[in-house]
Amino acid sequence: MLFGRNIKNPIKMADKGVVKWTYSTCGYCSTGCSIEIGTNAQGQPVASRGVGGADVNRGKLCLKGIFEYEVFEATGRASRPMVRDTIHEAYAPTHWDTALDKMASEIKRIQAKYGQDSFAIVSTGQILTEEFYTLGKLVRGVIGTNNYDGNTTLCMASAVSGYKRSFGSDGPPGCYEDFEHTDCLIAWGSNLPEQHPIIYWRLKEALEKRKFPVIVVDPRVTIFAQNADIHLPITPGTDVVLQNALIHVIIKEGLEDRDYINANTNGFDELAKEVENYDPTSAAKICGIDEDTIRTVARLYGKAKRAMSIWTMGINQSTHGSDGVVGINNLNLVTGNIGKPGGTSLSITGQCNAMGTREWSSCSGLPGYRALEKPEDREEIAKFWGIDPEFFPKKRGLTETDIFPAIETGEIKGLWLVATNPMTSMANTPRIRKTLEKLECLVVQDAYYDVESSQYAHIFLPAGIWAEKEGVFTNTERRVNLTRQVKQPYAESKSDMQIFNELAKRFDNGKVIRFPERPADVFEEMKQLSKGRLCDISGMSHDLIEQKRGIQWPYSEEKVADNENGSQRLYTETATFCYPDGKAKLIPLPFINNNEIPDEQFPFWLNSGRLVEHWHTRTKTGKIGNNNKFSPIPFMEMNPDAADEMGIKHQTYVRVTSRRGDAVVMAMLTQRVPRNMVFIPFHFFDCVNRLTLGLLDPYSRQPAFKQSAVAIEHVDQDFAAQLSKELRTY
Ligand code: SF4
Ligand code: MOS
Repeated sequence: MLFGRNIKNPIKMADKGVVKWTYSTCGYCSTGCSIEIGTNAQGQPVASRGVGGADVNRGKLCLKGIFEYEVFEATGRASRPMVRDTIHEAYAPTHWDTALDKMASEIKRIQAKYGQDSFAIVSTGQILTEEFYTLGKLVRGVIGTNNYDGNTTLCMASAVSGYKRSFGSDGPPGCYEDFEHTDCLIAWGSNLPEQHPIIYWRLKEALEKRKFPVIVVDPRVTIFAQNADIHLPITPGTDVVLQNALIHVIIKEGLEDRDYINANTNGFDELAKEVENYDPTSAAKICGIDEDTIRTVARLYGKAKRAMSIWTMGINQSTHGSDGVVGINNLNLVTGNIGKPGGTSLSITGQCNAMGTREWSSCSGLPGYRALEKPEDREEIAKFWGIDPEFFPKKRGLTETDIFPAIETGEIKGLWLVATNPMTSMANTPRIRKTLEKLECLVVQDAYYDVESSQYAHIFLPAGIWAEKEGVFTNTERRVNLTRQVKQPYAESKSDMQIFNELAKRFDNGKVIRFPERPADVFEEMKQLSKGRLCDISGMSHDLIEQKRGIQWPYSEEKVADNENGSQRLYTETATFCYPDGKAKLIPLPFINNNEIPDEQFPFWLNSGRLVEHWHTRTKTGKIGNNNKFSPIPFMEMNPDAADEMGIKHQTYVRVTSRRGDAVVMAMLTQRVPRNMVFIPFHFFDCVNRLTLGLLDPYSRQPAFKQSAVAIEHVDQDFAAQLSKELRTY
């Protein structure tokens, strides 16, 4: 007799014919999962799997990682360089030498005619660290324009600026393992289960072993908020008020850590004086969280032996983004929660290598967290590269968000975009479109020719993606992890590093400075430059990184000699912050409300953010069936009561308008958003960013994507369906 599974068809994994697994690190988000790509006998990528021995993900992957092997051959991969004289004609495919000659001569022409800084460069958080370092060398040392930035300004700039203001340097001080030691967690504007599913899984695992309160601050009832012990549905853009009120209660009730404050910080009295003004009764009126809850949370955080905060774009993408980060740091410093297991202030980064660009791309300065403003840093790098230090600008140039307005005013005439897509990602895209049309020369370097910004380019350079190359990424917890080369770059595309190297040869300084071809040799240069710095990687090598499944910096040569692992935390000893006296700064944060607040004409808050199945502007995930089919079209979350009042039905199209423009989206009725708010995912072309305001944070120049005001109108359903179809290029 046959029982149980014997009478059924046994579950069988499809045999994909994998003959080889290659070690890599996921190329989507900053969680930094170790992933192996399986290739078949023909060398084609056919499968992905999580790496069991890797501390970050311990064998797991999220929906994006699982299907990541499909990106290699996805539709829209660009096979050849293309050029054209004006954006009104079709591109003509050409040879690499022709395209790069044209690019070099355009850069030289524009710089000669309009000045050195009239050619701007905006890069990404997607390429490898060795490539970032090489691009930095090319821009700072060879081309010599000061208007150079990364798209990370749209997402991490506030975290960087807040860390610098509080601690004297960028560099997230904590790690995922902190979940295993903490007694209280506040997550600020971070929908972890959707944005960083594997970090969330690490948190859940810690909670299963040991219960501690989880508090989620978010205007939306996100999945994270649903699973929290306390949800604080804050009024958008008022985090600083809540932070000040929490510190107010902590000081009033004597819950601050005086010993820690005295030994490690400056500015306590000034901070204490400022937060005097933020008693919970007054604060509640501004931030929308009731007085009792503010007191409860303050006591939980203040009394916890170890407390930690994590945050993402809910804090960063605001006119108070940098202040919001400083506010979190203030809260942690006052309670003595930096550099301790379970006591930290951990920014959850976005892109797979947003950290790598911060450390090594020279966007905001010079490699290895060096500053253009410091003569000794300029000297050191110039000497190392073999050029005159006078070639470097003496202070940082424009950020991405200031580069586009400078194109509008005619100050900038040429632009090179590397793996970034401002036509979808920037705020107020109708204005970005007009801006791009004004350029005398736009170069788009991307793996996909159908990336929307390429419609405005004169030169298109096809680039290899992620595991078509070898090199490292740094994740949210400072872990440097490796990707090996799974296959050659698609068709005639070249690795970003090869493109940088070949362009360098076309300039004078490019013949002076060394541009090694092997990624491991570039890594050796970075190691030398990192010695003794905060982001010391001198003890690492590609092989050792693979062996250890990622190593957290700082990791000096001495650490290797002692066979130690990487550094889990920063600032673990007394007064080891990066200011000259080793102390962190407590900074008072007066709140000035400059948000675009809903009014009679535009009665809804507009909020935007990510979905689990998509990545950024869908250049990759829009083409992967298993990702795209879960959310193929733009939609808008709307509260059912608000919809009812306006006679809007579930799954019908509406027109949303703001002071900038309009967008047509499908209304999805859900209690996730309050009555006076709508939420639209940011991944779709000609959608939410036609509406967003993008007012800039004064310190970080990051746009306030998440706070603006919109109105909702009925729209002809057939027309809307047609429009929606036309916009769905993929
Ligand atoms: Fe990749 Fe992030 Fe998903 Fe991990 S959590 S598999 S790094 S997208
Ligand atoms: Mo960000 S999405 O860390 O550039």
